Amino acid sequence: MSESFLNQPEGASASQAASSHPSRHPDVTGRYYVPGFPIGEGKTDYEKYLKTPELLSLQTPLEQAVSPEEPLFQLTHQASELWMKLMLIELERAIGFMDEDKILMACRCFRLVDDCQMVLMMQVDLIARHISIVEYAKIRTVLGQGSGMESPGFNRLLEMAPCLWESFSALLARRGKTIREIYTDYEGNIELHTLAEALVDYDDLFHKWRAHHFALVARTIGTEANSLKGLSTQVLQKGVKTRFFPELLDLRSVLTNESPVAYGGQPLPQDESAR
Ligand code: HEM
Repeated sequence: MSESFLNQPEGASASQAASSHPSRHPDVTGRYYVPGFPIGEGKTDYEKYLKTPELLSLQTPLEQAVSPEEPLFQLTHQASELWMKLMLIELERAIGFMDEDKILMACRCFRLVDDCQMVLMMQVDLIARHISIVEYAKIRTVLGQGSGMESPGFNRLLEMAPCLWESFSALLARRGKTIREIYTDYEGNIELHTLAEALVDYDDLFHKWRAHHFALVARTIGTEANSLKGLSTQVLQKGVKTRFFPELLDLRSVLTNESPVAYGGQPLPQDESAR
């Protein structure tokens, strides 16, 4: 394979490119520095294992980009799909572990999934903080009718939530426990309780990502504009309100309402020593 660079016609070698440009200088190793991003030849073990030539060819070449901020937009979305792929792999594992009664192993998978979600949220921030409204308007012109609603990773995550719930419920049934029991006697059911809280953490972070993304949309195209699919951005509000495991959240209101309400509505005593 010939050495190629994103900003240079395929087949042109580094030295050819260097000699054709007045500002090229050899570096300390005698190699010429050529502007643009080197895709490399894929000959080293590092490149072979990571498939860097293929990976780095997946982005629109800079000379074809409609905006200098397009690489950030495209890379962020591509990277998000990869992180969602890892989340799906780990969630499949979590289901397997729940089905095998390996509760702590399932919790371990959820920890990684949640850290991936933190990374996804940071990526939303990258766009919010670094893509200007005017540049995004240019990027939109090359997106066709594309929508995040078509994200394969995201849609699979939505599909997987009921499967997680099914495995968790089956595990509780095998142990003869109810959700209520693992919350009221959390110490006596610490493993199941920790797993239930891992599900809540996962749900919470997914919910936060949706809210975070909605804030990004409000900041970039506004809440009164239509999406490229012609949908009102308000469709996102419905997703923001959706929770994967409402049973685990509803229980909190039940337990709170049942708890002793001696303090409820009563002002605290004036004299603190009276407590
Ligand atoms: C300039 C930045 C962005 C804008 C203006 C934007 C805009 C939108 C809009 C308007 C929707 C509503 C559906 C539709 O398109 O009709 C949507 C949905 C979505 N977008 Fe984005 N988006 C941006 C960045 C991102 C990023 C970085 C991701 C990361 C993967 C992403 C993933 C999604 C997903 C998964 C949905 C479906 C959400 C749901 O159903 O709750 N978007 N986006």
